[in-house]
Amino acid sequence: MADKKKILVLTGGGDCPGLNAVIRGIAKRAKKEKGWEVYGSIEAFNGIMKDPPELVKLTSKRIAGIHVKGGTILKTTNKGNPLAFARENPDGSVTMEDRTEILKKKLLEHNFDAVINIGGDGSQKISQALFEKGINIVGVPKTIDNDLSSTDLTFGFSSAVQVATDSFDKLVTTAESHHRVMIMEVMGRDAGWIALHTAIAGGAEICLIPEIPYDIKKLVKRIEKRYHKGRGFVNIVISEGAHAKGGQVFAREPDEKGYAHKRLGGVAYRLTEELRAAGCTADIREAVLGHTQRGGSPIAFDRILASLFGVKAFELVKDGKYGQMVSYKGSKVTSVPLKDAVKEYNFVKPDSFLVKGAKGLGISFGD
Ligand code: F6P
Repeated sequence: MADKKKILVLTGGGDCPGLNAVIRGIAKRAKKEKGWEVYGSIEAFNGIMKDPPELVKLTSKRIAGIHVKGGTILKTTNKGNPLAFARENPDGSVTMEDRTEILKKKLLEHNFDAVINIGGDGSQKISQALFEKGINIVGVPKTIDNDLSSTDLTFGFSSAVQVATDSFDKLVTTAESHHRVMIMEVMGRDAGWIALHTAIAGGAEICLIPEIPYDIKKLVKRIEKRYHKGRGFVNIVISEGAHAKGGQVFAREPDEKGYAHKRLGGVAYRLTEELRAAGCTADIREAVLGHTQRGGSPIAFDRILASLFGVKAFELVKDGKYGQMVSYKGSKVTSVPLKDAVKEYNFVKPDSFLVKGAKGLGISFGD
C-alpha cells in the first residue's frame, strides 16, 4: 500500500469564532479521499518545533461537533513566528532567530507533505515567506477584523459584529434611561469594519473609525444638540484604532516577550477626555468590549464560511496548489496567490457604499 500523505494544520495569531469549523472541514474532506492523515500542531508552529512535538491526530472522533465551539482546539499564540522566534537568553534578554531550517527538518522528520496555516494578516505573511523558502503551504484567512484584502470576508468577522450589535442594543436602553452619552469601543486594529457594521446594525448616532479621523469640535456640536433635546441620549461606536485629525492611534508598547505588536484598547476613555476638553457637558460612560468579540460560538454564517474554507484548503493541498490562500469572492469560495493576498491591507474606503449608506442614515463620522 502506498504511504499515507500527511497534512499539518495549525492556528496562529488571535483566535476567532470559526477556527474549529475550518479544522473540522479539512479533516472531514480529507477523510473522503484515500491515503490522507491530518494532524494539528498545538500553539501554531510551536507544537511541531517542540521535542517531542506536540501534535494531535485529527480523527473523526476528535473533530466531531467542534464546528459549533469558539476558540481553537489546537490553541494559538501570537509568539510563534518561526521566521522571527523570540528566544529568551539566561539573562532575560531576547534574541530573535530564524528557525525556518529547523521547521523544515521537523516537517521532514515527521513526514509531513503539506501545511495549512489558518491565520490573519500576520500569519499569512508568514505563510508566504515559508512558501518562498520551499514549504508546501496553503493559507486560510481568519480574523474578526476583516482586514485581509483578497477575500470579501474573513470568518469570525460576522460573529464579532453580532456580539458588538447585541452589546450595542443593551447600551442603547441604559443610555436612554440615564440620559447619557454611551461610548462603545470595538476591536479592528487599523480597520473600522466592525465599528461600521455595528453602527449601521445598531443605529448609532456616531461612528468613529481609523480611516476617517474625526474633528472633536464637530463631535461635541453633534452630541450636545441631541443630548439637550429633551432628555436626549447618544450612542457612539468607536473602533480601537480611531483618532482625531492630526492625532495618533491610542496604543501601548507590548509588555510580553516575543509579542511583536503594539497593544490597542482603551481609546473610548481617551475620547471622553477629548470631549471634556472640547467643552462637552453631557454625562458620559464607556464600554470596552475587548475579547468578548472573539469568544463564543460562531454564528451560522461563519460556521458555513469556515467549514467551506476547510474543504477548499484540503482540495488545494490535494491538487498541489501551494502558495495559495483560500478566499471568498463574489459569493464563491476560491483561492488567490498568497503573495497577492498579503500585498494590501483591507482598509474601509471613506467613499465606499457602506460609508455613504451610513451617512445616508444620518450616522456621523465626525469628519
Ligand atoms: O487581530 C484581532 C485583534 O482582535 C485586534 O482587533 C486586537 O487589537 C488584537 O487582536 C488583540 O489581540 P491580543 O490581545 O490577542 O494580542
